[in-house]
Amino acid sequence: MTKIVVRGGRRLGGRVAVGGSKNAGLPLLFAALLTPERCTIRGLPRVADILTTLHLLQKIGCLVGDDAFEAIMVEARDLTSAEAPYELVKTMRASFLTLGPLVARTGYGRVATPGGCAIGSRPVDIHLAGLERLGATIRQAHGYVEAEAPRLRGARITLDFPSVGATENLMMAATLADGVTEIENAACEPEIEDLAAALVKMGARVAGAGSTLVTVEGVRELGAFDHTVIPDRIEAGTLLIAGAITGGDVTVDGARAEHLDALLAKLEEAGVGVERGVGAVGVRAGACRRATDVRTAPHPGFPTDLQAQFMALMTTAEGRSMITETIFENRFMHVQELVRMGADIRVDGKTALVRGVPRLSGAPVMATDLRASVCLVLAALAAQNTSEIARVYHLDRGYERLEAKLSSLGADVERVRG
Ligand code: UD1
Repeated sequence: MTKIVVRGGRRLGGRVAVGGSKNAGLPLLFAALLTPERCTIRGLPRVADILTTLHLLQKIGCLVGDDAFEAIMVEARDLTSAEAPYELVKTMRASFLTLGPLVARTGYGRVATPGGCAIGSRPVDIHLAGLERLGATIRQAHGYVEAEAPRLRGARITLDFPSVGATENLMMAATLADGVTEIENAACEPEIEDLAAALVKMGARVAGAGSTLVTVEGVRELGAFDHTVIPDRIEAGTLLIAGAITGGDVTVDGARAEHLDALLAKLEEAGVGVERGVGAVGVRAGACRRATDVRTAPHPGFPTDLQAQFMALMTTAEGRSMITETIFENRFMHVQELVRMGADIRVDGKTALVRGVPRLSGAPVMATDLRASVCLVLAALAAQNTSEIARVYHLDRGYERLEAKLSSLGADVERVRG
């Protein structure tokens, strides 16, 4: 079994480049289903979730080409299927984003229901209620959802919760609907703005993306787009925390401070020096960090995707911090593994109480999901002696060349294939 082996205790230093955003890249790829013309997406990270999406698009009949991954071309001219099968959806929930574009463009889509996953039950009811508002008939049977509508029609949709995926799915569906759609209580994440920017390049009329009210005026057809994905704010945040947790000086080139406000404010509160540059963000960390409370929330709140990493940072901070997870109901699976490394953490419902210890100690640990796995790598960087992190396939869903990036900053980390 492949493991990541980290010999901890080294201060990290230097500059490292952030990659393109996985979470922005996924909806951009699905947006290509809205047009028969060839779309080009640049800067996508070569991570498992992106490869799964390309595979799924090919299964539906898209032509997919890549120019050494610098530019990915997707052409959805002659679709041969309208179905996202369970074997792909179960490995990546974002596959559900095929439904909105398929029903909007072809009048029919069939997608496996994703089911729960390690971090929570993650239903798709908000996506489906929104598509119904747009006039789609929804049927659910045999583990699949079917959506059908000869033509969607614009509507006012109020989301029960600002779901990122539902906002994206509905925004895409509404681009080809008759009339105007208003999505209220929309998610405001930067990835939504990036998707809207690409949709506008296709000829869609989308306004307000990045705010809680997105307005889409439907058009008859959409054309090609050529778009470079935004930098990955979660990878950037993870690399900054890697600098902070080792008391190091790390600059992440390409990171956008405006996408990282909530994290940077919390790092400053914890006593970490933050430099917001143009096209780069850096941390200058001393040996000592103050305990800092964090509560995850939809953007612009503290991102749930950085909760585990921030908890790792708090395990050796001075004092007691409260980490509250409000987005997913089961996103503390890293806690028991951090405890195996000597952390003092107690979980009570949605809150983890972290009492800082002077030092973590290396241990064999197991990754349970994408962000939990990287939190263990971060903890291992700061721990004494050697840690081995197993089940790294979780990490590979969302981080490209993580060991190489950390090594370039001075970490002693390697991937060992067993
Ligand atoms: C996206 C991100 C993920 C991030 C999450 C929250 C991608 C590919 N993934 O996931 O990394 O952690 O946003 O920032 O961009 N919910 C419902 N019903 C629905 C939809 C969602 O109850 O129909 C709930 C979910 O169970 C969860 C919460 O809403 O508790 C947030 O989910 P959502 O914002 O939809 O996350 P994703 O789009 O799946």
